[in-house]
Amino acid sequence: MAVVKLPNTPGPIGVFDSGYGGLTVLRELRRLLPQYDYLYLGDNARAPYGSRSFELIYQYTREAVTYLFQHGCHLVILACNTASAKALRNIQQKDLPVLDTSRRVLGVIRPTAECVGNISRTRHIGILATAGTINSNSYNLEINKLYPDIHVEGHACPMWAPLVENFELDNEGTEYFVQKDIQLLMDKDKDIDTIILGCTHYPLLLPLIQKHIPKNVTVIPQGRYIASSLKDYLFRHPDMAKKCTSTGTCRYLTTENNIIFDRSACRFMQHDVQSQHIELTEYNMPCEY
Ligand code: DGL
Repeated sequence: MAVVKLPNTPGPIGVFDSGYGGLTVLRELRRLLPQYDYLYLGDNARAPYGSRSFELIYQYTREAVTYLFQHGCHLVILACNTASAKALRNIQQKDLPVLDTSRRVLGVIRPTAECVGNISRTRHIGILATAGTINSNSYNLEINKLYPDIHVEGHACPMWAPLVENFELDNEGTEYFVQKDIQLLMDKDKDIDTIILGCTHYPLLLPLIQKHIPKNVTVIPQGRYIASSLKDYLFRHPDMAKKCTSTGTCRYLTTENNIIFDRSACRFMQHDVQSQHIELTEYNMPCEY
């Protein structure tokens, strides 16, 4: 019944995000695990995902994962909290059994949730993320599964990802939204001592975030936790590690114009980026269920 033919030879690790945000994760992956090959896919043409419906985020993410599988990846990291919150479970439970039971898709919420237990002293944690991630309650659920004593308060920042996607990183308008949203989160719970940036776009706003965060509050960008969790995963799954090629390369794909992508991506990565434009829609319904 499946009509997708997937290559069986080893391939790069796929890294997917709605746009540029996943580059903050990719940077940390390459820093910690430079030996592997990576294939980054940004769905910039359809970003931001944050306010989109469950159905659309699932459909877009499934198209991207299928594309990455078809282009050699055996392991795909959803370097996007919104996709991890809205699509990961369905992809793992409904799609992988049909596409290929030996391939894996991992998200970013669980590894981030794991790290907070040792950081918060007050046991009050704040989450700043997209509306999709906040409304899914994924962080509350994951954190409380691991640490039932932690109180989690979330606040959606619908303007932040679009500002980052448009590279508006340090102007007055951006600062207004950053300050306002941090204040709104802290107003909900004054005991918060740890804030998770639960959107991979947000580390790009770190200078402004640091400026407006209360002094006693620790900010957690996710990238390095995701990287160390992947390192641990590959160590525990040597069979999967063998399916990931390791010549240290990185290729970039975007659904936007590739010249526009390259211009912004090189500022995120701090080196030249040459991407390739791809279309995802043809991967919409790759299988007959
Ligand atoms: N970077 C994504 C995340 O981590 C999504 C941002 C968006 O597309 O709205 O949630």
